Amino acid sequence: MTFGLGIDIIEVSRIQKEISKEDGGFRIRVFTQDEINYCESKITKSQNYAARFAAKEAFFKALGSGWSKGFAWNEVEVTKDESGKPYIITHGKVKDFIKQNQILNIHVSISHLKETAIAIVSLEK
Ligand SMILES: CC(C)(COP(=O)(O)OP(=O)(O)OC[C@H]1O[C@@H](n2cnc3c(N)ncnc32)[C@H](O)[C@@H]1OP(=O)(O)O)[C@@H](O)C(=O)NCCC(=O)NCCS
Repeated sequence: MTFGLGIDIIEVSRIQKEISKEDGGFRIRVFTQDEINYCESKITKSQNYAARFAAKEAFFKALGSGWSKGFAWNEVEVTKDESGKPYIITHGKVKDFIKQNQILNIHVSISHLKETAIAIVSLEK
């Protein structure tokens, strides 16, 4: 049974601007260390960061409650299986919410071009 569906599209330039700030605060606040390591290893790193940002937004849309429960961006992490297929793992308050709402499966698909990145997330109970 579907719990929720979310989609998000983002301009890569918006994320590029944030991640290029010298204090690095945005990067740390939004992404996990593994996400940062992955994106920093790519030539297209702004696209990879933007796609992950879109996946987090899409995830919160799928939750329905948005950010109202004090969730943190880096409590939603995009990781990959051996084939490169992305999947989402959760941490902290988001993980608790997923458990309390008996959400059993999280599906994510992401795509990015030079200027835009897009992600869709579905949650199943
Ligand atoms: C993997 C593939 C689908 C990526 O498509 P693309 O048009 O080159 O690039 P897009 O911007 O649309 O998508 C890139 C994202 O695809 C995702 N992806 C990579 N491998 C994937 C896979 N096996 N299954 C699903 N998604 C995958 C990744 O999240 C990647 O972004 P990231 O590196 O920032 O995490 C493509 O390169 C490919 O290998 N096609 C061959 C057919 C295939 O294996 N398809 C898999 C789906 S059935």
